[in-house]
Amino acid sequence: MSKAEFVVVANRLPVDRSGDGEGDDAWRRSPGGLVTALEPVMQSEDGAWVGWAGGADLTLDPFEFDGMLLVPVPLSADEVELYYEGMSNDTFWPLYHDVISEPRYRRVWWDAYVKVNRRFAEAAAGAAEQGATVWVQDYQLQLVPAMLREIRPDLTIGYFHHIPFPAYGLYSQLPWRRQVLEGLLGADVVGFQRVADAGNFARAVRRVFHYQTKATGIEVPQADGTTRVALAKAFPISIDTASYVELAQRPDIRARAAEIRESLGNPRKILLGVDRLDYTKGIQHRLKAFGELLEDGRLAVEDVTLVQVASPSRERVAAYIQLRDEIELKVGRINGDYDTMGHTAIRYLHQGFPREEMVALFLAADVMLVTALRDGMNLVAKEYVATRADNRGVLVLSEFAGAADELASAIRVNPHDIDGLKDAIMRAVEMPAGEQGRRMRAMRRKVIENDVAAWSKSFLTALRGAKKASQ
Ligand code: G6P
Repeated sequence: MSKAEFVVVANRLPVDRSGDGEGDDAWRRSPGGLVTALEPVMQSEDGAWVGWAGGADLTLDPFEFDGMLLVPVPLSADEVELYYEGMSNDTFWPLYHDVISEPRYRRVWWDAYVKVNRRFAEAAAGAAEQGATVWVQDYQLQLVPAMLREIRPDLTIGYFHHIPFPAYGLYSQLPWRRQVLEGLLGADVVGFQRVADAGNFARAVRRVFHYQTKATGIEVPQADGTTRVALAKAFPISIDTASYVELAQRPDIRARAAEIRESLGNPRKILLGVDRLDYTKGIQHRLKAFGELLEDGRLAVEDVTLVQVASPSRERVAAYIQLRDEIELKVGRINGDYDTMGHTAIRYLHQGFPREEMVALFLAADVMLVTALRDGMNLVAKEYVATRADNRGVLVLSEFAGAADELASAIRVNPHDIDGLKDAIMRAVEMPAGEQGRRMRAMRRKVIENDVAAWSKSFLTALRGAKKASQ
């Protein structure tokens, strides 16, 4: 296998299998900005991407796709259950999202997590050229940086954490809190979404290891008595803004937006929620607030429709199965109480859609509701803003989403405060065009300036700097 100067390691490969196609059309590029952001680096440096192809017991040889070398890491059915559904999504996910759902700590899950992280580290070590740069992504692979450094001390290693890092009071519940910090500290740069996340991580390191943390980085003692510096810093991720702006200008997508409005009975206002079906997203809080506004008579079903896209996610994890039942019960009740023959209160779609349809929905929506209880960033908020070239539309944004740090002109909400959320929705529905324009313009400027290419560039620049400083 040829070796790469630049290697990305992520739980998932940036492709999905399309049906049972063979050869070149067996794979389709998966949506998501990360691969778009990294494409220029991937092409210019002969990059490789190490990741799981989805599914169980699938052993595939490395293959070329869109100018990248993709290196599939196999997972057995047991490992999907223990490492992916268990440790990653029933322990780390709820713990790192402030225990919205109760994390389960199971030793067999941890053992599988260690084993699978080692497999990813070995695959990355095998794909990397001497002195290469390896960029590890997200909470499924927190042990990879240190494991990789042990096998390949010649590499420059970056890690980016896409989800929140919790305060020590919660993090300290983790029975393997030392091992996870050790794993992360194997990186030269540990990137986070918010300044608060980087601060929580540095505090955890101080509490657990008593290492010195300075502005220049955390001093990590080495076995040979020297110290290495690991930089922990915020690099807020973004979207491929230009591609959203472009899609939003396409006549067929604009026509589709009009068609969506029409098929909803041309309500005066369309409210929109777009989330993976996940308990971190605050979908129930949003439904409660909307249902009460109908009940209070502050909104009428003839005037306003809520479109809620909840894309299927992690469907074998108990908390997700239960959440789906709860949401669908609530939607059914609200629609049962308020629908008329011609109008629906909530158009609920438990489906995933292609980007084009999402952009049409963004264009059709007067108000975008992002009411996450905790969210690393929330890229949907940025996508909505990117598509609104007419500077119309209102973003209601939870202060618990990372995006709130940058999108200060959104209507900010605490989704736990249902009365506050109701007032925010009313304010959004009634906001005059002039105020919409002022707010949207300021937010669009941010999203256009700070796109995902700028994000990867700033991370990789910091990584090069950190490596130089440590030599
Ligand atoms: C979040 C995580 C990603 C993850 C994605 C989808 O955005 O930060 O690492 O890939 O959710 O979840 P899934 O479990 O389907 O990969």
